[in-house]
Amino acid sequence: MSYDCELRQRAEQAVDMYFENVKQDPYFPGYHLAPPSGLLNDPNGWIQWKGRYHLFFQWMPFHTGHGAKFWGHFSSRDLVNWRYEPIALTPADWFDKSGCYSGSAVNADGMLKVFYTGNVKDEQGNRETYQCLAESADGFHFEKKGVKVRLPEGYTPHFRDPKVWKHEDQWYMVIGAQKLDKKGCAVLLKSAGLEDWTCIGVLSHANAEPLENLGYMWECPDLFSLNERDVLLFSPQGLEADGIDYNNHYQSGYVIGTVDYETAAYKHGKFLELDRGFEFYAPQTTLDDNGRRILIGWMGVPDQNEAEQPTVPNGWVHQMTLPRKLELRNDKILQHPLDEMKLLRIGEAIDRQFDRKYQTSISKTSEIDINGDIESLNIFGYADLYFNQAEGVLTLERPSYVNGIKETRSCCLPSGLNRLHIFVDHSSLEIFVNDGEEVFTSRMFAPNGNDSLTINTNKSSHVQIWDLKNDTIHIR
Ligand code: FRU
Repeated sequence: MSYDCELRQRAEQAVDMYFENVKQDPYFPGYHLAPPSGLLNDPNGWIQWKGRYHLFFQWMPFHTGHGAKFWGHFSSRDLVNWRYEPIALTPADWFDKSGCYSGSAVNADGMLKVFYTGNVKDEQGNRETYQCLAESADGFHFEKKGVKVRLPEGYTPHFRDPKVWKHEDQWYMVIGAQKLDKKGCAVLLKSAGLEDWTCIGVLSHANAEPLENLGYMWECPDLFSLNERDVLLFSPQGLEADGIDYNNHYQSGYVIGTVDYETAAYKHGKFLELDRGFEFYAPQTTLDDNGRRILIGWMGVPDQNEAEQPTVPNGWVHQMTLPRKLELRNDKILQHPLDEMKLLRIGEAIDRQFDRKYQTSISKTSEIDINGDIESLNIFGYADLYFNQAEGVLTLERPSYVNGIKETRSCCLPSGLNRLHIFVDHSSLEIFVNDGEEVFTSRMFAPNGNDSLTINTNKSSHVQIWDLKNDTIHIR
């Protein structure tokens, strides 16, 4: 048996062994993507191809730590009902033996082609990095085509996570990198036919806020155009917390500007965080057949108390965010739940106009939409959200899952707070603030037995609450 077959078999055996336990975990999501066993991290290869949406993911099937990653695979026709598919890539070759790391997918010549980083580490922990290609004629079975890009001069082997797209009949790739002076950056490459790649250079800081000073390594860059502006998304490592900003272990955000595709010069505005919650990292976007720029992120952060997550004893850890539609308005990215998410709703909404206080019980899979002058909110007696009107600051508070001590994440809302649109799924919360002006994405490990929702407002307000489906991820 080939090593590839052996690894596939072992991973499937791990799923057989763990999944019964995993799915009985009350924290396992009902409509978010999570691993059938082990650890899930970055979304990869996110694409709508021949009608079907494909989402691959960084996966360690055997345990809840990191290591030689596989590409796991989910697919969906409607972005609500997802099917777990056979493994796409195994770390079975010399150029990816320590992990088929993150990457992206394109449609080329009728084939689904994925670029990913082959990670190779020797016994001393020295790292080599290769950007590799694999392709599929049916979207499910992949054939590896080997190494397409080797490490260029000027960078350390922290050079990974290729995102590929087409711009004016030419293919481009952006790679997350670290320069020899240990500064994080993104590198732009080009190719006529996806085989031979030329390095154009570092997407460089052409104005007052140099990207130069944003950490020691950038992971998972994504460059795309939105409203005719060039948005660079990336996840920098090494930023210091600064007031309410950069409070997670690593960050994830974007700059907006204009790229010169000939020289990689990039004139851009300041770096903004994409999400204000506790767990969000390595998002990837795709442009779907309806022309929507859709983002999915990892609801986790590397090295941020991952081993202490309460699901670890049950054999799994982490999940994805919901897919979100991006909109660019006033030099800022807004994020919206997709219209398809309405398919999750069961039955009629609770629909109430209320005066100052509303209390009810909700299911573990719920959608809550509040319009009004909101003061505070409590979910399951566990997570609090409160708005300080004088300072214009919205704060999410929860007990740390490590030691129970209260911890907070906050954002500024210069024009106040008028809407909260919340998706609750067993152990996660996604809070869309003011029609997507900000989002808080967080895990929520509330003890069982408290189903309460309490909303306090300053005036008469309106709330709608839906019970959502609890079974849209079909693993077995
Ligand atoms: C981001 C990341 C990527 C890498 C992958 C490995 O979370 O570290 O840079 O490709 O995860 O799983």
